[in-house]
Amino acid sequence: MTDPILLTDGQMREFIANGYLVFEPTVPEGTHEACYERLNQIIDSEPNPGNNILPRVPAMRHVLNSPEVRGALISVLGPNYLEHPHRYCHPLKPVEEPVPAAAAKERLRRNCHQDGYTPMGHPRQHYLRYARIMYYPQDSPVELGPTHVIPGTQFNRGLTDEDRARALPLAGRAGTVSLTHFDVGHAAGVSLLPIHRQMIKFIYMRASEPTAPTWDCKSTHWQKPQCVESPYDLELAWAHTWDWLCGKRDRYASWPKAAGDVAALIAQLGPEVDLARRLVAAQQLAGCGVDAAEAVPTLVECLGTDHQAMRTAATYALGAIGAPAVGPLAQALRAAGREADQHEAPPAWNEGATNMEDAAQALAAVGEPAIETLCALLAAESEWTQVNAAFALGEMDSHAVAAVPALTRCLEEGSHRLVRTALVALGNIAQGVPVEALGRMLSADHPDWQAEASRRWVPRDQVRTNAAVACAQLGQAAAPLEAQLFRALDDPCGHVGAFALSALQRIGSPTATQAAMDYLYSQRWDAAIDGERQF
Ligand SMILES: [Fe+2]
Repeated sequence: MTDPILLTDGQMREFIANGYLVFEPTVPEGTHEACYERLNQIIDSEPNPGNNILPRVPAMRHVLNSPEVRGALISVLGPNYLEHPHRYCHPLKPVEEPVPAAAAKERLRRNCHQDGYTPMGHPRQHYLRYARIMYYPQDSPVELGPTHVIPGTQFNRGLTDEDRARALPLAGRAGTVSLTHFDVGHAAGVSLLPIHRQMIKFIYMRASEPTAPTWDCKSTHWQKPQCVESPYDLELAWAHTWDWLCGKRDRYASWPKAAGDVAALIAQLGPEVDLARRLVAAQQLAGCGVDAAEAVPTLVECLGTDHQAMRTAATYALGAIGAPAVGPLAQALRAAGREADQHEAPPAWNEGATNMEDAAQALAAVGEPAIETLCALLAAESEWTQVNAAFALGEMDSHAVAAVPALTRCLEEGSHRLVRTALVALGNIAQGVPVEALGRMLSADHPDWQAEASRRWVPRDQVRTNAAVACAQLGQAAAPLEAQLFRALDDPCGHVGAFALSALQRIGSPTATQAAMDYLYSQRWDAAIDGERQF
């Protein structure tokens, strides 16, 4: 395999701000034509193969293993990234009737969405932990309906008409690949042509926290990218993400510290002030750090219901202010929990993608000064408060190692929402995690986890899947779980086996590797077989 082509500093900065990049992979001649032809045959003659699309068209591995795709994934997710078992072919069939321009425009507007996580819900996350690859095996001009992207929407809790009006086509030649932040808004385009359009989606996950830049980094100093397509200046959030990706322990290291007139800046935060000026004020308050403590109540008011850009700026300003923000943010999480308790299940919990409270995102950005309070909230009365606290701790990665005992206790709970979120947090923290507790979760069950929740999955499936992902994130530290991971390969839920396979591969002992290879050989696929050819 040729060396991966890593992203440059400039490409990384643009990806952080805009949420997407487009490039063309180097593959053996004829790869795209062969993939296109095979995909057309499959889509014309049988049900969509869903997660099995890659073994049905194994030549697509040349795209996924190309130096450009591997390099981009390593840059954004780290060298040990995980391949998610969900993949999907999104075909648009040849168009038979002309589509009026107005109808095409309206259809595109309605197609705009943020993806749900799959198969069951997962919190949306600002940090780069999930990424999506979209591959077009055919020339994809605008008339063929390539996917559209809405730059800068990766921090959004939803899309507005303002966002939908900014959808841009990712048109390109055969072989074009886009890399997107998982939560960025996008839309299936509308085809006007009488030929197949194929787009195949693959999902990748970060396995461990950044400890150093994993791209072709020449300088860890943050600079605003040359090409910003986000309509709002959220440089505070971008710089914070950059510092996290650089592996800096201070995720605000790049943000300039400056004294400011805090009272005057607070006056600029009011809803009557122009949005651009409010954003500047919130981000300047971040530079004041703890000296802007007086701004905390006003910034907390911006969370939850304000304009998306203002919420993002306020979230990261509160994170920069730090310790003085912890109490009011914890109060906000308790209040959200009391509100959620009025319902049978937390209304914000969605078995597609869950928007955690902005206050939880802000507490995650605060980091260590928030850990003790968040650990106390893990034992709060409200399930929704607990779930948000577990999420915030997980977003801190190894900074939250002191929370491991409290998060491990959450695994004993009956709330699958809390257990699932705690497992994600433990996998992200990945230090001091008691592996025997994770091992138990690989086969965990509970009477409340049996009812179908989404896409024919029951909560037990997602609990076990999250446990297997956490094992894969632990790498060699999961070695004592080899026997449980062997058994997990046979779990009736395919994702559990897929992530157990990744965990065994990362343990890397001769026995783990042998078990992984045996499992893969038994699943070996002959892509030449179809309805007519049986041998
Ligand atoms: Fe989508």
